Parts: sequence; C-alpha cells; structure tokens
Amino acid sequence: MLLSGVTIPSDQVSSDILLETAIAASKEAGALLLGYVRSGFRIEHKNLINLVTDADHAAEQCVIDNIRKQFPTHRFLAEERGRIEQSPSPYLWVIDPLDGTTNFAHGYPAYCVSVGLEYRGRCILGVVFDPSRNELFAAVEGRGARLNGQPIHVSDTTSLDGSLLVTGFAYDIRESSRKNLDHFGAFSLKAQGVRRTGSAALDLCYVATGRFDGFWEVKLNPWDMAAGSVIVRESGGRLTNFCGEDFSIYRQEIVASNGYIHQAMLKVLYEGTSQL
Ligand code: IPD
Ligand code: CA
Ligand code: CA
Repeated sequence: MLLSGVTIPSDQVSSDILLETAIAASKEAGALLLGYVRSGFRIEHKNLINLVTDADHAAEQCVIDNIRKQFPTHRFLAEERGRIEQSPSPYLWVIDPLDGTTNFAHGYPAYCVSVGLEYRGRCILGVVFDPSRNELFAAVEGRGARLNGQPIHVSDTTSLDGSLLVTGFAYDIRESSRKNLDHFGAFSLKAQGVRRTGSAALDLCYVATGRFDGFWEVKLNPWDMAAGSVIVRESGGRLTNFCGEDFSIYRQEIVASNGYIHQAMLKVLYEGTSQL
C-alpha cells in the first residue's frame, strides 16, 4: 500500500486501529471485572497460593473476542488459554486478562487488564487498564506513552537513596531456591523504600509515570510484561535483564527504571546476598 509517498508493508495494520482495538478490549474487560466484584466470583487454585477466578477467564475471553472481531487472523498468547494460532500472522497479542488476581480475590483494588502486541517478534504496543482507578496507560512504539490521554515520563531521581522501588514474588516462592528475598533485602538497605503491589503490569506503568523509580522481578511470564515494557520504553525508561543485557519478555528477568538509577540497581542485583 502507498500512502502519501510512504510504503506500508501489506501485512501491516494502522497503529491507530490497533491502539483503538486494544483500548476498547481492555476497557470492556475492566468493566467486566468490576461487575464480578459486585456480583461475586468463584475461586480455584492452580497451586496452594496461585489463584484463578471465573473473572480471569471471562475477561480473557472478552479481550480475545474484541480483538478477533477486528483482526480474525491475528495470533494470541493469553495467560489462561495459552497460544492460539489460527494462521501465520506477524501479529501476536500477549494478554494478561487480570494481572493482580490475588489482590482481586481479596478485594484489594490493585489489579488491571494488560494487552500487549508483538509485530514480527517485537513488542510495539501496550495498553494497561486499571478499572478501580479508571487509569488507562497506553503506548505505541515511537509515539510516547500516555495516562488517560496525557503524556507521561519516568522520574528524574538519580540515587538509590532517593528512590522508591517495587518488586514481586513468584508463586513457587515456597519451593524455589530463587525466591527474590535476597534482592528484596539488599534493596531495602539501599533504597528510600521498597514496595510489593501484586501487579507487575501496574508496577511497570508506575515506573513509566514516575510514581516508582525502578522495578525488578524474576520468573515473570510474557503476559505480565508485554504491555508494560512498551509503556516504560516509550516513557523514557530503560529495560534490561539482571546483567544489563537486552530485555526480552520471554527471558523472565526484568529490571525497569528511569535510566538514571539503572546501573546502581544492576550493581545491587549483581552483589545479591552479600548485601545482607
Ligand atoms: C502476578 C502479579 C504479581 C507478580 C507475580 C505474577 P497474576 O500475576 O503480576 O505482581 O509478582 O509474579 O504472577 O497471577 O496476578 O496475573
Ligand atoms: Ca500476571
Ligand atoms: Ca493473570
């Protein structure tokens, strides 16, 4: 297709339509989650501390249905249903229908719908909707990040002493030797404060808005990070693994920061338990 002298590959969809679709899907799923809060929901256990509710499943179906209506050939990677590949499309939607299920199940209003999009293996779009606060975070590669339509930017804090950090813990914390408690201890002695909110997607969005200065976690899944990583990148933040190498949503480790404190965060992670 040729548009004002610019050649758009024939498999490429306008980013405005992709964004509109992701926003509509996240908002509808968010409203559905609030409906379950009012009417009640059923809880099942994936393991002793890993919960899933019928709200998770319904929100996921809602997001997929919305996107499929617009883009019937696109592929999906969704937390509860796994991979859905009906054709070799270059687009892959990476969805966490309810990030913060434990919070949701306890009535603690810190959860969201997270919708990320890969094009040919690269994350190009992210939308995260927090229905309790009616906050919609959105970013498209090269176009900046926004909260409810207003541009957002990472903080300008330059020292760990002045930083508010955030992290989380995986559901295998009781069995695994890699619990993240060593890093949590080390950062607690170096930062102004360390929080654990229970929603990795919101943690990333809060780094993007400057509410947090940095975030790290181990053993996250692609759907926890896909949308939030684009939002951090587009708000001027930096993302790597624990060694400072390129970030990937498939490699489980994440360090996300305002950039200024990134090196100091990597140093603490490198030094690990010796800080305790
Ligand atoms: C969890 C949250 C939490 C993180 C866990 C995730 P879920 O996702 O993002 O903050 O610490 O590792 O699994 O289960 O609520 O979608
Ligand atoms: Ca999640
Ligand atoms: Ca989830």
